[in-house]
Amino acid sequence: MKSFRIAVLPGDGIGPEVMAEARRVLAAVETKFALKFELNEARVGGAAIDADGHALPAETLRICGESEAILFGSVGGPKWESLPPHEQPERAALLPLRKHFGLFANLRPAICFPKLTHASPLRADLVEGGFDVLCVRELTGGLYFGQPKYCRDENGEMTAVDTMVYKKSEIERIAHVAFKAAQGRRKRLTSIDKANVLENSVLWRKTVIEISAQYPDVTLNHLYVDNAAMQLIRNPKGFDVVLAENLFGDILSDEMAMIAGSLGMLPSASLGLKETPLGRFGLFEPSGGTAPDIAGKGIANPIAQILSAAMMLRYALGEPKAAEAIECAVRGVIDSGLRTSDIFSEGTRRVGTAEMGAAIAAGV
Ligand code: IPM
Ligand code: MG
Repeated sequence: MKSFRIAVLPGDGIGPEVMAEARRVLAAVETKFALKFELNEARVGGAAIDADGHALPAETLRICGESEAILFGSVGGPKWESLPPHEQPERAALLPLRKHFGLFANLRPAICFPKLTHASPLRADLVEGGFDVLCVRELTGGLYFGQPKYCRDENGEMTAVDTMVYKKSEIERIAHVAFKAAQGRRKRLTSIDKANVLENSVLWRKTVIEISAQYPDVTLNHLYVDNAAMQLIRNPKGFDVVLAENLFGDILSDEMAMIAGSLGMLPSASLGLKETPLGRFGLFEPSGGTAPDIAGKGIANPIAQILSAAMMLRYALGEPKAAEAIECAVRGVIDSGLRTSDIFSEGTRRVGTAEMGAAIAAGV
């Protein structure tokens, strides 16, 4: 029997309750596919600040380092918003995790299911039939991590500096991830930049064009980020894979998540350099946040967390069949009319977090 060690970091807000459903689905996968998951829970985010005084305790980092993958919930909430920014759960847990494990490739699928187009804020004719766009975001470079980075008094005036840096090799490796993803899909890649202004973007575009020679079956085009923000809303169905640097990808992937309808449906994968015989070490988390307003009520949509577990099986653990079984079970419950409140519409059946999780587990 194949056995995997997984670090489970539920975090704050709805994190623990949706994670419980992902665990339930993973238990069903164990039985069905004769796999064994050793799930090691660890504290992260606000929960860790309260218990250990730091959003990313050394013990949590150790457990992650000894695992084949990290299944992450979400971190943050009003309780910790008054802390200095660098101590807040998001910045003090997520960014160091990304840097520590070199999680440079962030995959954020924005899928609008044909049966859930009513949940999209876009006009019905723009989303009819649904859409499926994959955002590939560079995650360990650019303005987030570039040095120097400071805010200090300079010549009598407070001055803030963030530095945008990309090495060619960093652009190359994320471009390869995006081209390979496009090959497995509809074979179209849109690379985002601001090459009319930024030196970084000039190098970005030049490098992506160079790499494209290795993927003659993929059609490549380029958009300036401001124009891309418009085109994604005007015609989301016209896109397949979208490739962007860190900050542009942060912004565009939120835009895509919003127009897809429910944030509660969207998983994500952050993949690292470390390759194993099974895949790539990575962190798998819902795209949405901690949703403090509904936390603890048992009404949150667990699908994003469950689909994150599916991405983990596919990308980190080399179990694509088990991943497909979960994705198929999710489509099945949507087709059967089960809905959490965020995606509810007239004529469907409203269920809570646990009932949704149980239905998906039963369908695996
Ligand atoms: C995200 C978030 C993070 C980011 C924040 C919380 C640091 O917005 O994962 O998209 O900017 O990367
Ligand atoms: Mg973001």
